[in-house]
Formats: sequence, C-alpha cells, structure tokens
Amino acid sequence: HRHLLGIEHLKPHEITAILDLADQYVDLNRRQVKHSDALAGLTQINMFFENSTRTQASFEIAGKRLGADVMNMAMQASSIKKGETLIDTALTLNAMHPDLLVVRHPHSGAVDLLAQKVNCAVLNAGDGTHEHPTQALLDALTIRRAKGRLHRLSIAICGDIAHSRVARSNIMLLGKMENRIRLIGPPTLMPAGIAEFGVEVFDDMREGLKDVDVVMMLRLQKERMDGGFIPSSREYYHRFGLDADKLSHAKEDAIVMHPGPMNRGVEIDGTLADDINRSVIQEQVEMGVAVRMAAMDLLARNLRARDRQEGVMV
Ligand code: CP
Repeated sequence: HRHLLGIEHLKPHEITAILDLADQYVDLNRRQVKHSDALAGLTQINMFFENSTRTQASFEIAGKRLGADVMNMAMQASSIKKGETLIDTALTLNAMHPDLLVVRHPHSGAVDLLAQKVNCAVLNAGDGTHEHPTQALLDALTIRRAKGRLHRLSIAICGDIAHSRVARSNIMLLGKMENRIRLIGPPTLMPAGIAEFGVEVFDDMREGLKDVDVVMMLRLQKERMDGGFIPSSREYYHRFGLDADKLSHAKEDAIVMHPGPMNRGVEIDGTLADDINRSVIQEQVEMGVAVRMAAMDLLARNLRARDRQEGVMV
C-alpha cells in the first residue's frame, strides 16, 4: 500500500504484519524503542484540522523516534483561515516534497481526497465519522497483548456508535479477525443498517455485556450531534455508563478500554477507568506510539521500494 487511509483496505495478514512490527517497537515490559533510523532522511508533516492530544502527540513522537524530520502544521495559524482550500493547502505542502503526511479532518472522505492529490504517503489520523485506522490498530495490539490472541473473542463496543470513526474502524478490523462483536447503545445512537455488518445490537448494557472478553467504551460525541437528540449526561450514565455493577456481567477477566478523550461520569466511572486490574486505557496510549511507528515504517519501506524501481536517488 502507498497510504494508510482505512481498515477497509487492509487484509487480515496485513493487519497482523503491522501488529507484529509494532511488537518490535515495544517489549513485553512495555519498554519502548526510542531511537531508530527507519525514517532517516524523510520528512513527515502532521496536519490536524481537528483537535487531538493522543493521535497528534504519538504521531510526532513516533516520527521523531524513527529519525524523521517532523513538522507540525499549526492549522489555526495557517492560510486555511484566509480561505485557502484543503486541496490547495495539500498541493502547497506537496511542493515541499514531504514523504509522509498525517492528516486529521472533520469531514468524512477528506483524507482520501487529499491522498489523490499528493505524491507522498498519507496516513489518516481520523476523518469525520468515517475511519480512524491507527486507533483500531492500537486497540487490536492492546487486545492481542492482554488476551494472547486477536480472534474468537467476544467484544462489546458501547455508546455513541453512530458518530464514532473509532467504532467503524474497530468493527471492520475485529470482524476481519473473526471476533464476535456486540454493539450496545441507545437506538438513537446506533447507525441504521448496522446489523448487516455481522454484529449483534443491544440497548441494554447488562444484557449486551454478558460474558464478553473486552468492553470498549466510547465518548458521547456531542459536537457531531448538530441539532439532533442529545441525551442528558445523568440519564446516559445511568443507562449506558460503565460502572462496576454493569461490568460484573462481563467475564471476570474482561478488560476495559476507552480510546480517549473520556468523560468521567458520563460514559465511564472514573474509579473504574483508573483500576489497573481491569482498565488498559493507559496501555492503549502506549501502544499508539508503537503502532504508529510500525505503520510509518512499513509505508516508508514501500516508498523506498517504489523510488528504487523508478530509479530515484534514495
Ligand atoms: N483517541 C483519539 O483519537 O484521541 P485524540 O482525539 O486525543 O487524538
């Protein structure tokens, strides 16, 4: 592949290859590789048109640890504010010959469009409600390390499924790896026709969580509910917030996940989120760096192979 735009385009063996390489960047004691020259001589530009803490910081750290020259575009201070379009901005940056472009954008499909206009490798860091492939990959790595496998697990994804690119990418990835997926949430936050993806749908947490191995909570994305029904935080927490009582219906060794940023007391109880015996939320962040190192390393190998074929000096 030239780009990493979505899980949709990946085959199971390619997902496994990314996770296997990520395992080489973080050992079983969670010590991370901090110096490598895998991206030496390459230029990485991060363009975030939407807020981010985890994804932006970990892509920057990943690039620096692999020896790339990393530049973070301050989109708020860019000429986008003067009316320059996304494509013109991309073409302008493309003319500076970056090798890797990491892009987050509020509109679904914007990153795919941009990838068609540039010569470098593009990594989707989240586009609207469409895909967030590196999040699904880091979730997969976290699950595989905690459970020792990434197949035949029963996995519940809970909450605001309709607005979640994390849910979409995870449903595709976990489905490709032959897991049983249960979606739990209010019918108003469940996308129409979702059952066609081979998932089971529940609107009761206790019923849906019964005997699952993994509980993945999602943030209530109020910023994407423009004008639609917004549940009150109190009522939502009562029915769908994960607490010890609801979790007791899952398997005794079920792990608790959340991609972040989380709203404590809305979709998850704060004490449970901090319980290191159940919660792997911090480990997800750690795996985020390793997975992004692996994804960029693999794309850089493809870029170099392409350049060699074309006789470009590398
Ligand atoms: N999980 C995630 O994408 O977090 P950020 O929005 O902070 O990058």
